[in-house]
Amino acid sequence: MKVKDETVGGASLKSGPAPTTTLVPMTGPIHQENPDPCTIVIVGASGDLTARKIVPALFDLYRKGEMPAPFRVVGCARTHLTDQGFRQKMQKALGGKARSDDAAWKKFAAQIHYRSIDYSDDASFAGLGDFLKKEGRGRGMAQNRIFYLAIPPSLCEVTVRMIGRAGLAAEKTNGFGWSRIVVEKPFGRDLESAVALDKTLHDHFEEHQIFRMDHYLAKETVQNILMFRFANAIFEPIWNRRYVDSVSIRALETLGVEHRAGYYEQAGVLRDMFQNHMMQLLALMAMDPPSAFEADRVRDEKVRVYRSLRPFPVESLNRYLILGQYGPGLVRGKQVPGYREEPGVRPHSLVPTFASMRIFIDNWRWQGTPFYLISGKRMGEKLTNITVQFKEVPHSLFRKILGEHIGVNRLTMGIYPDERISLMFQTKYPGPRMILKPVTMDFRYAQGQKDALMEAYEKLLLDCMLGDQMLFLRQDSVQLCWEFLTPILNACETCSDRSETLQFYEAGKWGTQAVEELNRTRMNDSAAMGSKTQQFNSSTAFPPGGRGMAQP
Ligand SMILES: NC(=O)c1ccc[n+]([C@@H]2O[C@H](COP(=O)([O-])OP(=O)(O)OC[C@H]3O[C@@H](n4cnc5c(N)ncnc54)[C@H](OP(=O)(O)O)[C@@H]3O)[C@@H](O)[C@H]2O)c1
Repeated sequence: MKVKDETVGGASLKSGPAPTTTLVPMTGPIHQENPDPCTIVIVGASGDLTARKIVPALFDLYRKGEMPAPFRVVGCARTHLTDQGFRQKMQKALGGKARSDDAAWKKFAAQIHYRSIDYSDDASFAGLGDFLKKEGRGRGMAQNRIFYLAIPPSLCEVTVRMIGRAGLAAEKTNGFGWSRIVVEKPFGRDLESAVALDKTLHDHFEEHQIFRMDHYLAKETVQNILMFRFANAIFEPIWNRRYVDSVSIRALETLGVEHRAGYYEQAGVLRDMFQNHMMQLLALMAMDPPSAFEADRVRDEKVRVYRSLRPFPVESLNRYLILGQYGPGLVRGKQVPGYREEPGVRPHSLVPTFASMRIFIDNWRWQGTPFYLISGKRMGEKLTNITVQFKEVPHSLFRKILGEHIGVNRLTMGIYPDERISLMFQTKYPGPRMILKPVTMDFRYAQGQKDALMEAYEKLLLDCMLGDQMLFLRQDSVQLCWEFLTPILNACETCSDRSETLQFYEAGKWGTQAVEELNRTRMNDSAAMGSKTQQFNSSTAFPPGGRGMAQP
């Protein structure tokens, strides 16, 4: 791998002689072990997720030689389809991917089956069990099963019960091998429902069989956070309150609610983005080094972060939380409706589509360091990144020449669309005068390694087949996140002045700059932590023009 010279803002930064670099694959060519032969049962296979993510990921794994031999995919849903009908539907969903590799598609398609079921009918699942046993016999097919719940959350509990009652959760009995269940986020809609879902899961499955899926965790750049932090000796010593001023985690989307109003009206941005993705990123950035790179060691450390979260003072939420809802506006030159005008949204809906949260972690490492979690729909640009802002130099030698402040060092971990890590630092601008110039040193994640990148659903499906729970959520972390968020949700949803709490922003208006501005105002606040900890309020945190927009 060649280290590239970067030219930033006119300044050329030589990264030194390119080191001889050996790529160290974490686990073999892509993985050292092959998964056991198994059947992947997709429940809700007539839906969007199956066509857009699950089957394309399985097909890509097949083309990469990563699927077990033999394997089989069984789609199940209420919709009546034949095997052939389901294969055609999946071929259409794959589009060019299937057309460009017809031979592979034909072999893959031969392993796909379909069964019509009723999610609350014992006989449907008994029939499914018979089918799994009968069809597997004589094909060297071990009776290992994955049940992937690609159904709306409201159907999960009943389906789990049916799978359990049909004896399909049992392991190593009646000729069955292992059995696993994949549950998609959201995991409940509050603490109570998350506990209820978990109880149902645990009535039939043990924790090692349960794979709670948040595809964000499997993005290469997200996985890279732990490598970056713990495979380099230079960052860990400064990864704490002494050197870090603040950490910002942003996930901005240009899209609106699209066709998901039914779900979004019940969820809003806090349930949709914060309970899972944002809290996971927070844990990866804040956790202590685990003793080993093993699923439970890593997940133990994440849980410790969640246990240390300072509860929000619900009586003064405005100091820690800003909620917004998009109004009409221009996104990439196209006029778009406001949230309340989207199909399926209530005309006076108070559901937030934007949130910015200031979080503190009460432990030795992070005491007093704010973590900003920011996510919104219909923003001016689509991006996910994390910025670690370091503290200013304690004493500036250059004060007389350069003034009071010297720009701080920033480490940015780009997750989307720029998959990169960049470190910003100060250099002397070449020439006779003493001028500082901030430059960045960049690493682009896909540099020369594009082929090795694995799409998140591929990685998670493969890990599930391998029984590796590292990138899946454990119940205690789900529960702790809900414990942290539920009082905020309650306060936001029950308070009489909800419309006061919610700010309205113009669609497409806020991009990185506006969010930067939002952060900067907050950084000032954080710089004054200690003497003026409580000075933050939402009126200073909004970018110019962002607040005070007429309510639609
Ligand atoms: N789509 C995504 O990009 C995405 C991303 C992340 C997480 N998820 C999660 O993944 C799960 C599946 O998502 P999806 O988008 O594929 O869902 P979906 O298309 O809305 O539903 C999947 C299938 O469930 C059945 N179904 C839907 N509503 C039903 C109802 N009220 N009663 C009975 N059956 C119903 C339908 O099949 P039949 O009518 O044929 O039975 C439908 O084809 C959800 O939990 C979702 O939150 C989805």
